[in-house]
Amino acid sequence: MLVAVQPNQQRRGLGRQVLQALLLRAQELDCSTASLEVAASNQAAINLYEALGFINCGQRSGYYRNGEDALLKCLDLKQIQVRTDNRPE
Ligand SMILES: CC(C)(COP(=O)(O)OP(=O)(O)OC[C@H]1O[C@@H](n2cnc3c(N)ncnc32)[C@H](O)[C@@H]1OP(=O)(O)O)[C@@H](O)C(=O)NCCC(=O)NCCS
Repeated sequence: MLVAVQPNQQRRGLGRQVLQALLLRAQELDCSTASLEVAASNQAAINLYEALGFINCGQRSGYYRNGEDALLKCLDLKQIQVRTDNRPE
C-alpha cells in the first residue's frame, strides 16, 4: 500500500481521513493488527502514523532502492477506537 496526497492538497486532513477509513474497515473485517513501512526520513508520514496510534515495532535495513532504512510501525486494532466522524460516504 502506498498512501499519497497531491502536494497542493496536503496538510488539509485528507491523509488522516483515508487512513482512518482504512483502519475502520480493517476493524470491521476483524483484523487484529495493522503494519506498515515508512522511510526513516519521512517525518510527515511518521507524524501522521503516530497521531493515529502506530508505534515502532521494527526496522528493515536498506529497504528502499536508495538504500534508506524503513521503520516498521504497528497498530493493535483491538485496542484502539478509530474516529468515525469524518468517514467518507
Ligand atoms: C504523508 C502524507 C500522505 C500526509 O497526507 P496529508 O493529507 O498531508 O496529511 P494530513 O493533513 O491528514 O495530516 C495529518 C497529520 O500528519 C502529520 N503531518 C502531515 N504532513 C506533515 C508535514 N509536512 N510535516 C509534519 N507533519 C505532518 C501531522 O501530524 C498532521 O496533523 P496536523 O495537521 O494536525 O498537525 C503526505 O504528506 C504525502 O502524500 N506525502 C508523500 C507520499 C508519502 O510519503 N506517503 C507515505 C509513504 S509511507
